[in-house]
Amino acid sequence: MISEKMVNALNEQINKEIYSAYLYMSMSAYSTFIGLKGFANWFMVQYQEEMTHAMKIYDYVNDQGTQVKLMAISQPPTDFESPLDMFEKTLDHEKFVTKSINGLVDLAIEEKDHATNIFLQWFVTEQIEEEGNDNDIIAKLKLVGSEGNGLFILDKELAQRVFTPPAQTTE
Ligand code: FEO
Repeated sequence: MISEKMVNALNEQINKEIYSAYLYMSMSAYSTFIGLKGFANWFMVQYQEEMTHAMKIYDYVNDQGTQVKLMAISQPPTDFESPLDMFEKTLDHEKFVTKSINGLVDLAIEEKDHATNIFLQWFVTEQIEEEGNDNDIIAKLKLVGSEGNGLFILDKELAQRVFTPPAQTTE
């Protein structure tokens, strides 16, 4: 049996995941505007991933026989100093999400809510991968700098990213 407190916290997490999608969509738009189509592709794939994260929680809340309650989505930043600035902000945001997921796990443990705890483990693992990806790209950006050939090559690399829907974990 899932508590009202847990459902409220999961509804807040849906909002955070949709905000994440919105943030990365904004970064994709900015990347397109400054001529970095590969970066734009990477962030648009990230946007899609974040929407699947939101929908995983959405489905879980429904499966528990409880109500999804959507909230207002904050406006994301629209301008960035450089590609490095975008990825540093991405990493900062993912650290915030990781903390939020950890808080949900703490609550599930506190409430002896084993089902929600198990459900959340997928997100714990996913956050390791997300932060890892960001760290990797930040390291490359620091190597190549914010302009010239290196950035052009990195843009081509990021153009290769393809969205792969995550496997179902709730059924
Ligand atoms: Fe849904 Fe990027 O964490």
